[in-house]
Amino acid sequence: MTILVTGGAGYIGSHTIIELIVAGHNVVVVDNLCNSSKISLERVERITSTQIPFFQADIRDKKALSDILDMYSIDACIHFAGLKAVGESTAYPYEYYDNNIIGTLNLISVLRKHNIKNIIFSSSATVYGEPATIPITEECPKGKCTNPYGWTKWMIEQMLMDLHTADPTFNIVILRYFNPIGAHQSGLIGENPNGVPNNLMPYITQVAVGKREYLHIFGNNYDTPDGTGVRDYIHVVDLARGHVKALEAINRNCGVAIYNLGTGKGYSVLEIVKAFESVNGMKIPYVIDPRRPGDIATCYSDPQKAQRELGWKADNGIEEMCRDSWNWQRRNPNGYEQ
Ligand code: NAD
Ligand code: WQD
Repeated sequence: MTILVTGGAGYIGSHTIIELIVAGHNVVVVDNLCNSSKISLERVERITSTQIPFFQADIRDKKALSDILDMYSIDACIHFAGLKAVGESTAYPYEYYDNNIIGTLNLISVLRKHNIKNIIFSSSATVYGEPATIPITEECPKGKCTNPYGWTKWMIEQMLMDLHTADPTFNIVILRYFNPIGAHQSGLIGENPNGVPNNLMPYITQVAVGKREYLHIFGNNYDTPDGTGVRDYIHVVDLARGHVKALEAINRNCGVAIYNLGTGKGYSVLEIVKAFESVNGMKIPYVIDPRRPGDIATCYSDPQKAQRELGWKADNGIEEMCRDSWNWQRRNPNGYEQ
């Protein structure tokens, strides 16, 4: 199949393109590079020995999107493009709603005009809010999000489902990612946050590489075994492979389907620090800070639906995640900046 990949220069998109190419698909990438570098795609070309058609364009630009779709016969769209920083979304809600919601509406409008009705969407475990049950199944009701970023995912999911209700010839797969970490084993591509990392693993790797003095652990008084927050970390390469499986479902005319992509196992912040230290043979100094507003104690998935229906499960464990995160950071201390 030929897949339009929006946001393909980003962290998850770049890893997914590799798996798509390995599975024999063609890709066309659209990204405005607002949170990424074209170098990631050059590295993907190196890894796959494949030239990747890339267009630097904003998904809010209908004309640009339409011109691109006129040039290719696209079978499906994997829609990664979006802003994703939780804290920033609270400070800039307009920008988040504009980019993520208006961007997605524009994209859908252009896809429809080109009769492309197969869409895979990057959603997030954040739509569950404070989860009603743990582990979280897809039946768990969507909750109240604690920030505008989360609401954009919540609303886009609803938009896509309504679209399918009105026109059942749409095939929509909503993938709810848990906490992606790790990097491609080559160490050539990985997560490249701007400024101070918001997420745990990039913060740890920046401490490891000497860019930051110590890790701030946000709270050790949660109702968890060691008091620190528990999350379902998933290797980004496993996550990427989940998209290939979702495409197979689309080929079977799946209608609308929602899947958790997680491992089903929760690790606390302290367990992640210890695993990173032992796998990579180094110390990660840390201090305990107050809780971060909006954080919940525990969040991990029940990933059985994806296993049952997609034949997908995560293969990599926490050791591989810690090893590959560090391999990427140590080879690229400044990310894609040379
Ligand atoms: P990322 O920022 O690395 O990738 C997103 C890409 O989209 C970037 O390359 C950015 O330049 C591009 N982009 C943003 N707005 C755009 C626009 N208007 N037009 C064109 N391109 C645009 O983020 P990621 O971690 O790879 O996340 C990919 C998707 O997965 C996002 O939608 C994100 O919300 C979602 N997600 C991420 C996580 C996570 O923890 N990384 C978890 C759950 C869901
Ligand atoms: C993990 C744990 C923190 C940083 C976020 C988004 C979610 C999804 C994934 C996009 C928590 C603790 C973190 C630090 C810490 N993204 N922590 N010190 O909050 O589970 O999820 O990313 O959809 O929507 O909310 O991930 O990596 O920020 O935090 O102690 O410097 O690490 O408190 O317990 P989170 P995270």
